[in-house]
Amino acid sequence: MSQPAFAPGFSRRDHDLVCDGVPLAEIAAAVGTPLYVYSAAALRDRYHAVDDAFGGYPHAVHYALKANSTLAIVRLLRSLGSAADANSAWEIEVARRAGFEPSQIVFTGVGKSPEELECAASLPLKAINVESAGELARVEAIAARLGRRARVAMRLNPDIDAQSHPHISTGLKINKFGVPLDEARAVLGTLGMRPSLALVAVHVHVGSQITSLDPLKRAAALAVEVSEELRRGGAPLEYVDLGGGLGVSYDGSAVPSARDYVSALVGEVRRSGLPIVVEPGRAIAAPAGVLVARVVDVKPRDESSDFAIIDAGMTELLRPALYGAFHRIEPVAARGGAAERRYEIVGPVCESSDVVGRDRLLPPLAPGDLVAIRDVGAYGSAMASNYNRRPLPAEVLVDEGEWRVIRRRQTIDDQLALET
Ligand code: LLP
Repeated sequence: MSQPAFAPGFSRRDHDLVCDGVPLAEIAAAVGTPLYVYSAAALRDRYHAVDDAFGGYPHAVHYALKANSTLAIVRLLRSLGSAADANSAWEIEVARRAGFEPSQIVFTGVGKSPEELECAASLPLKAINVESAGELARVEAIAARLGRRARVAMRLNPDIDAQSHPHISTGLKINKFGVPLDEARAVLGTLGMRPSLALVAVHVHVGSQITSLDPLKRAAALAVEVSEELRRGGAPLEYVDLGGGLGVSYDGSAVPSARDYVSALVGEVRRSGLPIVVEPGRAIAAPAGVLVARVVDVKPRDESSDFAIIDAGMTELLRPALYGAFHRIEPVAARGGAAERRYEIVGPVCESSDVVGRDRLLPPLAPGDLVAIRDVGAYGSAMASNYNRRPLPAEVLVDEGEWRVIRRRQTIDDQLALET
């Protein structure tokens, strides 16, 4: 493939924000707003940054579909050589429709229902990552009934603080995830006598948006330690699954690079020689997407600021309302010249928490202006809802100077089609 004539992702051409060379204003004029736009070049870049960082070390990158499971995005990642991490039976189905073989899918997640376990145990998945002794027993019972041997990995709860937002930290004892170490050791000790279960790996995932490598290293070291114990007991482990969690820079502050992250993990695992599985979602998808919205109203807030009300809010992008998450917000056309003003950028939903950006300095905004909310390729559209009967937004993928709608905007008929 020839080198693209633009930096992958989002940049300014003259005054206009463009995605892989295509003006966002042009796409918004054709498709309407609110609208997610993704850069295929950025997705490729971010995927290869993780994959290439392993060099010759044996590994598999299982893209976490929960970050963004729009079919075209999942297909693109598959075409790059990614494998998949699915967090529900429905994500398994999306992964399969995107072309993944069951053997390329790990099934993670707390609270898998009987129907989901039945579906998972009937497929030759790479592994079901079990989260409790009870779940392991349920998988075993289904596998025995089906006359199969279920491939399982056990998720440890390492009691490690990921130092991230409490809502997305999963590695502490008080969190609902995984099996505490002592219990895990006891349960794993029984596996030699359970012919319907094949233990293939130990799994850890201590949280998301992690910006310090220390918790990731400690979790990896622990997973390796437990793996080594199991191997000494005769368990033929195939790999170690270190989960996802690498953070991105939403505000320009420094975060570990994919290279730093991978070399930290490999540093902990190398002595065991075990291949590494990682499950990154955010680090691949977040910077590859923006949410384009239109200003619908501007009104005074206090002496020093105005409200800018846009046509996207917590229904299209929940992260600011749910976690107080920060996303850069920029005008799509930067006219320049006029002095910046202070804005509270809010959505149209009937909730005071429906704030997309607090206290932002921006060039003067007027109804009709377009703004872009940055770094929303992960956990953006995937967490959208129909609250206030707002339709799920359209999504566009830009690839090599061409763009196409990869999900049309939902209609009210789409919504009501489910109802009697
Ligand atoms: N593996 C497991 C078992 C997970 O639970 C997750 C994310 C991942 C992998 C992918 O993690 P990542 O590489 O994306 O950090 N909605 C939140 C994030 C929730 C993450 C849930 N689990 C947000 O918007 O920040």
